[in-house]
Amino acid sequence: MSEPRQILVTSALPYANGSIHLGHMLEYIQTDMWVRFQKLRGNQCIYVCADDAHGSAIMLRAEKEGITPEQLIANVQAEHSSDFADFLVDFDNFHSTHCEENRELSSLIYTRLREAGHIATRSVTQYYDPEKGMFLADRFIKGTCPKCAAEDQYGDNCEKCGATYAPTELKNPKSAISGATPELRDSQHFFFKLPDFQAMLQQWTRSGTLQDAVANKLAEWLDSGLQEWDISRDAPYFGFEIPGEPGKYFYVWLDAPIGYMASFKNLCARRPELDFDAFWKEDSKAELYHFIGKDIVNFHALFWPAMLEGAGFRKPTAINVHGYLTVNGAKMSKSRGTFIKARTYLDHLQPEYLRYYYASKLGRGVDDLDLNLDDFVQKVNSDLVGKVVNIASRCAGFVHKGNAGVLVGGDAAPELSEAFLAAAPSIADAYENRDFARAMREIMALADRANAWIADKAPWSLAKQEGKQDEVQAICAQGINLFRQLVIFLKPVLPVLAADAEAFLNVAPLTWSDHLSRLENHTLNPFKALMSRIEPARIEAMVAASKEDLAAAEAAAPAGNGELAKDPLSPEVEFDTFAAVDLRVALIVKAEAVEGADKLLRLTLDIGDERRNVFSGIKSAYPDPAKLEGRLTMMVANLKPRKMRFGMSEGMVMAAGPGGEEIYLLSPDSGAKPGQRIK
Ligand code: 2FM
Ligand code: ZN
Repeated sequence: MSEPRQILVTSALPYANGSIHLGHMLEYIQTDMWVRFQKLRGNQCIYVCADDAHGSAIMLRAEKEGITPEQLIANVQAEHSSDFADFLVDFDNFHSTHCEENRELSSLIYTRLREAGHIATRSVTQYYDPEKGMFLADRFIKGTCPKCAAEDQYGDNCEKCGATYAPTELKNPKSAISGATPELRDSQHFFFKLPDFQAMLQQWTRSGTLQDAVANKLAEWLDSGLQEWDISRDAPYFGFEIPGEPGKYFYVWLDAPIGYMASFKNLCARRPELDFDAFWKEDSKAELYHFIGKDIVNFHALFWPAMLEGAGFRKPTAINVHGYLTVNGAKMSKSRGTFIKARTYLDHLQPEYLRYYYASKLGRGVDDLDLNLDDFVQKVNSDLVGKVVNIASRCAGFVHKGNAGVLVGGDAAPELSEAFLAAAPSIADAYENRDFARAMREIMALADRANAWIADKAPWSLAKQEGKQDEVQAICAQGINLFRQLVIFLKPVLPVLAADAEAFLNVAPLTWSDHLSRLENHTLNPFKALMSRIEPARIEAMVAASKEDLAAAEAAAPAGNGELAKDPLSPEVEFDTFAAVDLRVALIVKAEAVEGADKLLRLTLDIGDERRNVFSGIKSAYPDPAKLEGRLTMMVANLKPRKMRFGMSEGMVMAAGPGGEEIYLLSPDSGAKPGQRIK
């Protein structure tokens, strides 16, 4: 037996200002399956992550919600943690980049880089919002495209004609935060001298650390020469102040990857067997893997190894890059209901269905992965329920009825047993190389052979014949043993199925090497259904609920979910645009829950000369809707009617607050009459 490996694994740190969706889950599930495989093999494998809690987007979002950034990131961390746990993503630690460990490590790395001469300072001219009192990142500036004159374009590229430009080239620039006309101001910035690491990176990116496609992409940047990287931002900013530089903060992307180290350091304090330095010192023998999406390769494969090298730490063993998720062949879409949040999925479906589906489609490459919802139902039902679980359910009854649950009869199918043993190294190799799709194909090919063998032996027919009981027992014991091996092979993907199977098999938690042995003269526990089929109606309900998430967020605006808004804050509008909105006093005549909708209330509103039916995502704040009846509120009366699953929504009521229980319907002063226009 070789020595157990020491492996530290990370997934990208999710931003602490939005919900986790199925696109994020692809990465966490991929990483978790790989980590579970390593643990199953007996390696010491540690999986850490954290919320990425800094930056101006988080600062502004908290401000908009009327809470502190600390409150916002605490709320989001609680939501993220439960989403991950319920998807069976088993982090050893899920921390936050806004923590003491990260502050210390970021200071340490920066100080070492500065002392080694890798930090430059120079003045940068940037747009500044005089009303808000802050410098504006490109995405907070809007204006007219200098190329095609399209209005309302972002500060760095035009969505209409595709042109890219500097924000200073935009015509009629405006701050997307306050609407003010920004002015140019100078400020001192700190730069990380990435070109100092050009030679190291040329070599490192070609040393087996990256997939070929990724290395080729990076070669384009490397060959055209690296630029110094601006690592500072001016106050106000939510992050860590740069040591000795009051009013200057580390840019969020400087301390984000250091968050990997910080999360591990935080774990070390709880787990005395873990030695921080043993994993991070320059000549560490431990392995370090980062799983990321292809959009953040430059941060992980250029800036990060250079920072580590410059500060005297080890570099990653490899960066494992995956592609994007599409749903039904297209980008996830809120209006089509294919922008599916982790929680919305979990409200309708078991996590292991998705874990298996992702595994069955994930190769080593950076190709995008499509979640085709019809194929998803078909594959899960056919492979997991129809093939794997079927073996146990076909055999268990005969063993219980005919032999009191005791497995006997020896190896009734030596060729098949041999094939299962022979396949194991190849399946392990596929897992090790993150070719989950190949692992699943090989496992299902074994399941097919096991089912074909059982069908051929037909124990259900033999059981009806005199004198065939021994044969029935030998066949079924063999079937159960083959099932046990399949469970071991699938355990990284399906940990709950494996735990339930272990309970049925009456065995201790299975490890990879257990596939070498078999159960003989061993008593089973009663068989319980291990997995049920996906009903297509569950998928329809999930898609409908995802549309409802959108409707609820829109209906609760401005309390809506920030991720839905394209702009961080609403841009300025002309008076005419505002005046075109027909705002009316409305009397809530009836308020009731909507069957099949978790978040919506159906409101019947009297606006003087007519009644309107409006669906509003405010149920979380008004669990007893009847209490709203008789109350006045305000509504947008000329909003285009919107067809929903439950009927037509003819307008929108107005509410404020961050969401959840904190949604506050607006009310006029007493004396207002239904139908009166708000001026
Ligand atoms: O792209 C993102 O979602 C970032 N929050 C990922 C950070 S990964 C690491 F570097 F912290
Ligand atoms: Zn343009």
